[in-house]
Amino acid sequence: MFNLYDLVMKKNVDIVICSGTLCYLMGGAELQMLNEHLPLELKDRVNIKGSPCLNLCDFPENGRPPFAKINGRNLSQVTIQSLIAEIQNELNS
Ligand code: FES
Repeated sequence: MFNLYDLVMKKNVDIVICSGTLCYLMGGAELQMLNEHLPLELKDRVNIKGSPCLNLCDFPENGRPPFAKINGRNLSQVTIQSLIAEIQNELNS
């Protein structure tokens, strides 16, 4: 049966977490556990990928590690809490 709710496209968020050495040592190791910390309502709306060095650490203007990307936008000094806040902002924008 066709359901009207099928017409409503849910917005998703793509997250790329840098697992390069510098990011990993500067807090990125914790970020690898993001999925376990996501609120239940966000779990099916977030695609999480790991990446080797995103090459953001080579340029001071990018900020400080650990780095991640949310829908292609660079984030610096990322923590699990800041990432969850960014995800919620992105879904509400
Ligand atoms: S190690 Fe993360 S951007 Fe280079």
